[in-house]
Amino acid sequence: MARTKIKDVLLSDKTDYKVNIKGWVRSFRNNQFIALNDGSCMGNLQVVINSEQLGEELLKNITSGAALNIDGTVVASQGKGQKVEVKADSVELYGACNPEEYPLQLKNRPSLEYLREIAHLRFRTNTFAAVFRVRHSLAYAIHKFFNDRGFVYLHTPIITASDAEGAGEMFKVTTLSLENPPKNEDGSINYSEDFFERAANLTVSGQLEAELGAMALGEVYTFGPTFRAENSNTTRHLAEFWMIEPEVAFNDINDNADLAEDLLKYIIKHALDNNREDLEFLAERLENEEKQKPQNERSEMGLIDKLEFVLNNQFERISYTEAIDILMQSKPFKKKQFQYEVKWGIDMQSEHERYLVEKHFKKPVVVTDYPKDIKAFYMRQNDDGKTVAAMDILAPGIGEIVGGSQREERLDRLQQRMQEMDIPTKEMYWYLDTRRFGTVPHAGFGLGFERMVQFVTGMTNIRDVIAFPRTPGNVEF
Ligand code: 4AD
Ligand code: MG
Repeated sequence: MARTKIKDVLLSDKTDYKVNIKGWVRSFRNNQFIALNDGSCMGNLQVVINSEQLGEELLKNITSGAALNIDGTVVASQGKGQKVEVKADSVELYGACNPEEYPLQLKNRPSLEYLREIAHLRFRTNTFAAVFRVRHSLAYAIHKFFNDRGFVYLHTPIITASDAEGAGEMFKVTTLSLENPPKNEDGSINYSEDFFERAANLTVSGQLEAELGAMALGEVYTFGPTFRAENSNTTRHLAEFWMIEPEVAFNDINDNADLAEDLLKYIIKHALDNNREDLEFLAERLENEEKQKPQNERSEMGLIDKLEFVLNNQFERISYTEAIDILMQSKPFKKKQFQYEVKWGIDMQSEHERYLVEKHFKKPVVVTDYPKDIKAFYMRQNDDGKTVAAMDILAPGIGEIVGGSQREERLDRLQQRMQEMDIPTKEMYWYLDTRRFGTVPHAGFGLGFERMVQFVTGMTNIRDVIAFPRTPGNVEF
């Protein structure tokens, strides 16, 4: 008999039919009731067995984590808590799970920190199964959003020779011997003997290549892994994270902000429409986590209310200069409660971003027109000579979730800025060629996928929304 997924058994009111189900035991009580989960949904299916039929040996192996293959009949449940259950005709043990050694026992609810250490097993908890089902669903929604709008999904390279952000936070890619690399006369490493015959690195962003595509295809996006060798040990930074980067010919910075707002709302709506059960579970988890915090640090809204609120309200749009003014008028500034300095020209710290979105506006904020000195070389220079057409979106509880800009499409301005910032213009002739051959105004942004998953699932630490997080000192699994 073909296997039926537990989700389909639970969703249907149908009874009195034969099924085959397979899954893992979550709990077993009274030598009679197995709660079986197969990952298809949050809920467990109750399987009722006749212990006398099964025999000692099998019975003793029905423990939490064991894998079973069950034939039986779906019947209306006698007990409360479920509409239907399965009355087992036969039970086969696929794999036993020694309770003495299995780290995921129901009795002692493991902490998220501990589960990070056993990330290879944490999918088996309700929390992580929900997070990864939602993560999948968001990825699907993103592709659907762009596909429905006629964007082309461009696979930009993972290995590059350029630094798209010009921030020098790259992991090197080499096959040279680390013990004894070939050297030039001046003692520097001779990369011409390396695999690519020059220095190469993992990409920090697919943007530059996406711009090349947009200059012919019009509207493209990338969705792939990016790598940053920044030594940040925070709840929002990974060394390997996934980024969505649309790039659109003929868009200006306002079109760019509209596209980003539409995308974020589309993703949220998709999750609310399609992942209700998981979101409700995660909302409850978050509520319990928040109970550990002092009253004044708890969020005012539950997870689902927050998502609905963001969906139904326009994002605030302000300039960087306005943001700094608001911060300088704020209570924490006047009471000297900010740890970092606030004045025009600073790169806003997370405490500043959080004040703006969580205390002042209480919703996502699009901040535009940042000082050019704190932003990347490719952003379009504004007429004031001080700012660029940058656009960051700050989200409650997350801080920066989107970073983007209108691009500098004027060849002379771009070249000049690259020289000022020590970006190699010669090596990047291919990027400058777009400005030589039919240049047009265009804009794009990068959405950090894990930060988006954090926002939707309410998970506090970014390490808990990617299966196997890479952070400084951590590359296990
Ligand atoms: O602001 P960033 O650095 O912008 C870019 O990379 C541009 N090239 C994007 C573009 O315009 N096409 O990064 C974009 C977003 C951030 O807003 C943040 O959400 C996420 O990527 N991000 C990270 N997420 C996790 N860990 C990190 N270390 C991240 N760095 C950036
Ligand atoms: Mg940024």
